[in-house]
Amino acid sequence: MIRIAIDGPSGAGKSTVAKAVAGRLGIDYIDTGAMYRALGYKMKLKGVEPVEDERLAELLESTDIDFRAGDIYLDGEIVNDKIRTPEMSMAASACSALAMVRRKLVELQQNMAASKSVIMDGRDIGTVVLPDAELKYFITASAEERASRRYKELMEKGQDVSYDSILSDIIERDHNDSTREVTPLRQADDAVLLDTTLMTAEEVVNRICTDAGKML
Ligand code: DC
Repeated sequence: MIRIAIDGPSGAGKSTVAKAVAGRLGIDYIDTGAMYRALGYKMKLKGVEPVEDERLAELLESTDIDFRAGDIYLDGEIVNDKIRTPEMSMAASACSALAMVRRKLVELQQNMAASKSVIMDGRDIGTVVLPDAELKYFITASAEERASRRYKELMEKGQDVSYDSILSDIIERDHNDSTREVTPLRQADDAVLLDTTLMTAEEVVNRICTDAGKML
């Protein structure tokens, strides 16, 4: 069994890399950011505010999040597209700062990795979710590079967005994610740092698969 932890800021290429590595090694990919997005989406849908502890606890109790064949299911419904908007990025960032939310999602993530090989990406995988992962990486890139990648991605999907608003969202989210009190984004002491401003996704994938190959 092999568990690979990938952490880093928004838009650094974590999911592109993790998906490709999962495909090559034939293991499951778990996108934990999508789980925070799905929960942020449900909180908006139900009108639950971060300060409403009791309603939030109830909502968490009755929420089911799962991955099947590359799709994310929220309470049995595929929500892939609904959670990939700038509004849901902000909703995810806000709900990911709540200790109650993190407790629930970390537990779900640990269960998902308990009995099978996985590659999991997020912000706290190497530090909290899978501290004993066999391989750990921290993938990063400059804010400008990350903004221009996300801009292209959203344009291709036909969403009407401006580069400047994406860049300022990224800077704001970086700030939120790395300064929040509960589990701020941090590189694990034993994680390998890979900067994708200077490396192509393919180079990063090759590097991780080579490292994994030595362990399998
Ligand atoms: O990777 P992403 O952009 O889909 O993540 C959405 C938000 O969720 C982001 O603001 C950071 C947060 N997140 C987190 O706090 N911990 C994780 N393991 C994954 C994501």
